[in-house]
Amino acid sequence: MIYKPYRIKAVEPITILTRKERESKLKEAAYNVFNLRAADVYVDLLTDSGTGAMSENQWAGIMQGDESYAGSRSYERFRHAVDDIFGFRYVLPTHQGRAAENVLFSAIVKPGDIVPNNMHFDTTRANVIANGGKPLDLVADVAYEPRSDHLFKGDMDPEKLTGLIAEVGAERIPLVLMTITNNSGGGQPVSLGNIREISRICHKHGIPFFIDAARFAENAYFIREREDGYAEVTPLEIAREIFSLADGMLMSAKKDALVNIGGILAMNDPAIYSAARDRLILMEGFPTYGGLAGRDLEAIAVGLYEGLDPAYLADRIAETRFLGEGLKEAGIPIIEPIGGHAVYIDVLSLLPDFPQRQFPALAVANALYLEGGIRGVEVGSVMFASVDADGNETFPALELVRLAIPRRTYTRVHFEHVIETAKTIAAHKDGLPGYRIIEGEGPLRHFVARFEPIGR
Ligand code: F0G
Repeated sequence: MIYKPYRIKAVEPITILTRKERESKLKEAAYNVFNLRAADVYVDLLTDSGTGAMSENQWAGIMQGDESYAGSRSYERFRHAVDDIFGFRYVLPTHQGRAAENVLFSAIVKPGDIVPNNMHFDTTRANVIANGGKPLDLVADVAYEPRSDHLFKGDMDPEKLTGLIAEVGAERIPLVLMTITNNSGGGQPVSLGNIREISRICHKHGIPFFIDAARFAENAYFIREREDGYAEVTPLEIAREIFSLADGMLMSAKKDALVNIGGILAMNDPAIYSAARDRLILMEGFPTYGGLAGRDLEAIAVGLYEGLDPAYLADRIAETRFLGEGLKEAGIPIIEPIGGHAVYIDVLSLLPDFPQRQFPALAVANALYLEGGIRGVEVGSVMFASVDADGNETFPALELVRLAIPRRTYTRVHFEHVIETAKTIAAHKDGLPGYRIIEGEGPLRHFVARFEPIGR
């Protein structure tokens, strides 16, 4: 049985605009949902990052924030939780995940270096590039098959990693990252068996092995559910085992630490630590607060444990599955198995004849807003299509709309509304317009581009 392990103490009012109002808001936003005011959105599934609800204990912690510049009590509480769960020698708080990335990479990535990952998240990829490195995705090929029901589609391919080390040499690889769960690949988990194997390969070659731990608790839950021998092991114990295999971690605390802002960087190597600490002082703040207020450190210290609570995780994963199963029944193909933090609509299967140059995933994202006031995010040709110097266009293999679920925030009524809206879209899918860019180019155009609808 799944039960809701919390009830609601504070509410945030939301409204739903009329269809006519939504039409004019989307037009004003130039058909890019990033340009919408949040107040004009009914169910906001743009991201699960920093958008969740904190608990009474986290709010109580906030009242106890110690805002001393150096050596605060709040840092001690934060440090205690991070040590207990992750177990690294050195710990640095940062204001969010991408700051941890930049602090770490600017300390250890040199021009010409290669940084492998199962799949880099956008900011991780961009921070490797910004520091002169080359990001590489070494996820197993099954990650690219939306219908495959493989249970650990986030796994890295060990042969791809050993092949890379043989080809370029370990000296050119300052670290190997592993993102758990694999956000860019559909929120899919990585098995402990794979983490152990990749750790072994890294250590054999003297390469530091780091974990991008944004959704580590959800990954631990999947290991408990799916991997032999872990059914009786708690998510906390699984997390300790995962991190015992790594040399360090970076984390956006805005996900599984259940806070609105925060990040963590931790490692065992004293030389990496001292370089990263100096970068941190320059870019974020003194090492006992990083980029955060004392109260934020308190909220993380509490949230890390709440995020590992088996009842919380069971409810969380059940919510995502409820939405995913409902969409499937509504005739909307999705990436399977359903991942941890989001459901990804497989737009090429939904609209096989829709030309990619007319942005089919954008068409679905916009239809979700027009039909139901729902905001998801396009992960398709707007984000990834490119044109080379000769004018040849390349389109991504997948056109997706990600519906990411804020933690402890929406009810089944909201998810049922999304499912009903999806049914309407599935029934009228052949009437969806295509889109044309009227302004905005470059790798970050998805945030800023302006569009207009065109006939198909
Ligand atoms: N790593 C992963 C796997 C992420 O999903 C994110 C953020 C980051 C790093 C960067 O962390 O936002 O705190 O700076 N993902 C959000 C998302 C933005 O919507 O998936 P951040």
